[in-house]
Amino acid sequence: MPDDLHSKTRRGFGTQVTHVSRPGVRNHGFVNGAVHRGSTVLYPSCEARGSINAAGFEKHALTYGTSGGPTHFALEDAIAEVEGGTRCLIVGTGLAACAVPLLAYLKAGDHCLIPDSAYGPTRRLADGLMAGWGIETTYYDPGIDAEGLKALMRPNTKVLYTESPGSHTFEMQDIPALAAVAHAGGAKVLMDNTWGIHHFQPFQHGVDVSIQALTKYVGGHSDVLLGSVTVNSEEDWRIIAGAGRFMGHYASPDDCWLALRGLRTMAVRLKHQEAAGLEVARWFEGRPEVLRVLHPALPSHPQHALWKRDFTGACSLFGVVFQPRYSAAQLDAMVDGLKLFGIGASWGGYESLALPTTGYITRTATSTELLGGPAVRFHIGLEDTADLIADLDSALATLPR
Ligand SMILES: Cc1ncc(COP(=O)(O)O)c(C=O)c1O
Repeated sequence: MPDDLHSKTRRGFGTQVTHVSRPGVRNHGFVNGAVHRGSTVLYPSCEARGSINAAGFEKHALTYGTSGGPTHFALEDAIAEVEGGTRCLIVGTGLAACAVPLLAYLKAGDHCLIPDSAYGPTRRLADGLMAGWGIETTYYDPGIDAEGLKALMRPNTKVLYTESPGSHTFEMQDIPALAAVAHAGGAKVLMDNTWGIHHFQPFQHGVDVSIQALTKYVGGHSDVLLGSVTVNSEEDWRIIAGAGRFMGHYASPDDCWLALRGLRTMAVRLKHQEAAGLEVARWFEGRPEVLRVLHPALPSHPQHALWKRDFTGACSLFGVVFQPRYSAAQLDAMVDGLKLFGIGASWGGYESLALPTTGYITRTATSTELLGGPAVRFHIGLEDTADLIADLDSALATLPR
């Protein structure tokens, strides 16, 4: 067996996540790598110190704990391969992975474009710290086309931020068309690709920097917080790694190890959860209490054609908009009655979740009334789908007719 199974040859996804970044014979023959914890890295000599430090941006350069160690490198290589990029920086949370590239590419006087449907804390960063530092943000309709985006681009627009589908509202974006406009105007294209993990290859669609909350499907067990920033060029790597390190971003090697363990089973989990999510989403579509289901893989989704063109599959997170006759309080009571769904944020774990979206949707470029009724976000886990549907059936029966 080769010592290093990291390979760019096109293999199936299950094979890829089973073999990527395994230590091979280097780890006394053990299947899994070790957890390397540490701050100080010893230099072999004073003379060697200079050349080792100078290699700080090189792959797997061991200089000091904050530049990562073998456990980080194993996860970085694995995520870079899953995302189809060349280099990856692991940071402590998914939110940090959103923040690092925004702060890396933007400075005072710059302009940034963020979709109205972006993950809420990304918006908070733009409206708070970034605004305070003199970085201006324009929120745009996630459904914007190339012409619309051209009209929003300015000479100082340095970043087009994207997230497809959008958080809570699940609008799909035409990433290749928007990326072409951004690049023509000299802006970098950043994408929060957490929903699209594995199913969307960002660098084949014009993205420069791909963000993942590894907390979700990669961790897969709701017991770890981690984020990744993946790039596809040496130039971008130096900007991202430089900014991440200037700000002291770091992740625990124990958490990286947990993420690597999660990655080994991610292909089967994603496959199961995609099918289970679609089954539950279709069931919701047939219910009289439901106005519409926000799932990009359903033909009823307004941008289903974009999903079909650019994605190879779906994860198990979607929204359900209920009839406008229901109040938020009635929906809360229905969710409270669920036995198998936890009420909580995050997603991508093994367990099912339900989260009323009241209070989670902020809009400035589009209408806050866009959904047409109160909504609940569902994450479908690894329980038997029939049990989940029976649980939902009982809960929906408590809603007034
Ligand atoms: C789309 C998206 N991006 C980023 C994050 C941030 O991830 P984390 O919880 O690891 O900070 C989340 C978390 O819910 C998310 O939903």
